[in-house]
Amino acid sequence: MPQNRYLTIALAKGRLAKKSLELFEKNGITCEEMKDPHTRKLIFVNEEKKIRFFLAKAGDVPTYVEYGTADIGIVGEDTILEEGRNLYEVADLGFGRCRMCVCGPPTARELLKHHEMIRVASKYPKIAKDYFYNKKHQTVEIIKLNGSVELAPIVGLSEVIVDIVETGSTLRENGLEVLEVICPLSARMVVNHVSMKMENERITALVRDMKEAAGEAG
Ligand code: PRP
Repeated sequence: MPQNRYLTIALAKGRLAKKSLELFEKNGITCEEMKDPHTRKLIFVNEEKKIRFFLAKAGDVPTYVEYGTADIGIVGEDTILEEGRNLYEVADLGFGRCRMCVCGPPTARELLKHHEMIRVASKYPKIAKDYFYNKKHQTVEIIKLNGSVELAPIVGLSEVIVDIVETGSTLRENGLEVLEVICPLSARMVVNHVSMKMENERITALVRDMKEAAGEAG
């Protein structure tokens, strides 16, 4: 059936976008232009399938989807939890697996055990706050950072950090370790509420195909 309307898909720039495109390709949705490592373009169109991709900062993907400027988004569960936007989470695509953890030097274990008033540095202040206040019932000071969070306990800005651990090498190379695991994470497909109603057939089929391709990718 010919499609009139473009379906817009927001991808989190970087590793997740690359993996997402591999899954789209498995479903015959290609976008050669996007593979050019030197391109500075942010919007890419597949005219045949009437699909438009755009690349956004991970933290902005849920925003574009909530406001309906993107019908669909692919982004990490960490970002979804942190942003707390109003959207449908329709699929766990299985890639980008990692864990949200409380990390620090081994000496910080005692501080956590005794619920001491500690400083927690994180790129994820909402997740950190929810974990310490609502799950652990521990009062802490949360310090928002924008990256290289592992620095904080080393230079004395905080006692621990809340951050993503994938291979664990950043921690190891900086003398830190996982002290508590908050939750597992992976890449998710999210959909705008209105789009889900208006383009239900098309979106449902795409979600199903992407899940299948993700399953095959294992
Ligand atoms: C992420 C995360 C950790 C690291 C974990 O940082 O914040 O620092 O990767 O990965 P690993 O367990 O495989 O070492 P990212 O590379 O996104 O950079 P950033 O800290 O500057 O945001």
